Amino acid sequence: MSDPVVIMKQEVGKAAASRVKSDSIVGLGTGSTTAYAIQYIGERLQSGDLKNIVGVTTSFQAEVLARKYHIPLSTLDVVDRIDIAIDGADEVDPQKNLIKGGGAAHTQEKIVDSLAEQFIVVVDGGKLVDKLGSTFLLPVEVIPKAVVPVMRKLEQLGGKPELRMGVKKAGPVVTDQGNLVIDVKYDSIDDPATLEKTINNIPGVLENGLFVGVTDVVLVGEIIDNKPVVREL
Ligand code: 5RP
Repeated sequence: MSDPVVIMKQEVGKAAASRVKSDSIVGLGTGSTTAYAIQYIGERLQSGDLKNIVGVTTSFQAEVLARKYHIPLSTLDVVDRIDIAIDGADEVDPQKNLIKGGGAAHTQEKIVDSLAEQFIVVVDGGKLVDKLGSTFLLPVEVIPKAVVPVMRKLEQLGGKPELRMGVKKAGPVVTDQGNLVIDVKYDSIDDPATLEKTINNIPGVLENGLFVGVTDVVLVGEIIDNKPVVREL
């Protein structure tokens, strides 16, 4: 049998893509789950099931995938609205607040996802948590010159910060904007709305991965009785 996590991601991506209507401007998120949504939107366009779609991407990765699946693209300085956005998440709490940024794309993701009339989050069941910060570090995008003072400040705020390092690349991860990412461990994030604002107020911070009050719908992929099931939270 194929990897159950992959099957969950495919099914939830397909379920989100099936909610896209013709004549829409669609925010295209980042990550391995959203990648399936982008693929299925492209397939619906090619089959004629969907017409007149324009995508607005949240990362280099999303742009490459959208081009691969022949989804016409535009940018935020051209479109006047985003009708629907589909994006993944690293953690989802019962209030549908999120931690994002596992792919270091949370800054552009937050801009596009927050603008959407409807924001759909696609995750597998392993991403659901009672409290944000329980399983995932909080990503913070920082301009390179401010890394040391920002790390000091994040420590003063009770976090354990570490600079995200590249894989198969010497040195740190560099974002699509040319900045760096600090991942912060918190024992527990009791008040995500306040922490989101407090961190974004540190000089040198561009954006953090807390998405509070942005999500409209969470689609969760699960395997039940050996079958993939998608449910809405
Ligand atoms: C990228 C993100 C992703 O949406 C998040 O990391 C989930 O990715 P995946 O679907 O691969 O688990 O926030 O910055």
